Amino acid sequence: MNPTDQPLAYWWPLATSQQLGVGKPLARVLHGRPLVLFRERDGRPAALPDRCPHRFAPLSAGCVRDGAVECPYHGWRFNGAGQCTRAPGSLDEGSSAVLLQPLQARDSHGLIWVRDAKLPAPALPCSATQEGLDLFWMHDKVRCSLQEAAENFLDAFHTHFVHAGWIRRDSKRQRVIADIRALEDGIEARYSEERLQPGLISRLFEGSRGESFGRFRLPGLAEIEYRDARGRLTLLITAWLVPAEAGHLQVIARIATRRGWLPGWLKRLLIRPLFGVVLRQDKRILEAVSANQQRFADCAEQWGPVQMLDGRQDLLGPWIRQLLLKGRLDDFAARRLELEL
Ligand code: FES
Ligand SMILES: [Fe+2]
Repeated sequence: MNPTDQPLAYWWPLATSQQLGVGKPLARVLHGRPLVLFRERDGRPAALPDRCPHRFAPLSAGCVRDGAVECPYHGWRFNGAGQCTRAPGSLDEGSSAVLLQPLQARDSHGLIWVRDAKLPAPALPCSATQEGLDLFWMHDKVRCSLQEAAENFLDAFHTHFVHAGWIRRDSKRQRVIADIRALEDGIEARYSEERLQPGLISRLFEGSRGESFGRFRLPGLAEIEYRDARGRLTLLITAWLVPAEAGHLQVIARIATRRGWLPGWLKRLLIRPLFGVVLRQDKRILEAVSANQQRFADCAEQWGPVQMLDGRQDLLGPWIRQLLLKGRLDDFAARRLELEL
């Protein structure tokens, strides 16, 4: 199984639990499939194709009544199993026929997850328990691929240029040790011997620096974790990268900081604008890179096909590509490198 051939076998988060209320359905696109999300009467989430079987009105434009999604056109209602429970005016009772094939949906770890129930289920891609942390959520849509965004998020060597002053500076590099190891469903880099990064974000949110980690887990989780000199977690930034319409990626990001480091109200005030700047910087370069790759793919006949060139500092990118393509690491051996970060 791999996310390129069988993407819907995996669990994908499509919204935060909070975003999915009881009365209003949500429209989402997962790997090109338009979906409607809603909550059933007992609060459990449900996911159906976002089309009424009657005349194809988008169900997400309707409302939720009695735990069923109601079409905005003639009011037909559908439960989480995809059965019609009401067809107003017809005098028909609801029927047990499945008119819309449902996807499996779960509410867990603060997110609404969806997958195709007909395929064998892998585990939820979540990070370890986050007790004692303040959580902040951010959402965006970027015109690029999952692989491009995952690599960008976990590539520490673009931060000196794209986020100069915010995360790192080219003029203030440090010698670091990077250990790369395989995870059961991904790949991880551990950076040691880096003192605090010179950028504003590290100075605000970290007390001291012990180790940091960058990890990718299938099908689309990219995570950066910072620990202080005593091994305590200070900052955990998790991005779930979810392919939506062709060429577009839905990004759900969660920023977790240790409780007590800064008062909650101050964090709330700082985190969204600060991380918003960083996300916009990444979005700009990612969309430019993605569009440029397409330009050169389009003229491959004239110039011949071109391939990306990996440098010694591209610690995770090549392995992320392999994981997305094959669902596993083939020829990987753990290794240690010294680099200037
Ligand atoms: S199109 Fe949905 S009820 Fe007619
Ligand atoms: Fe970045």
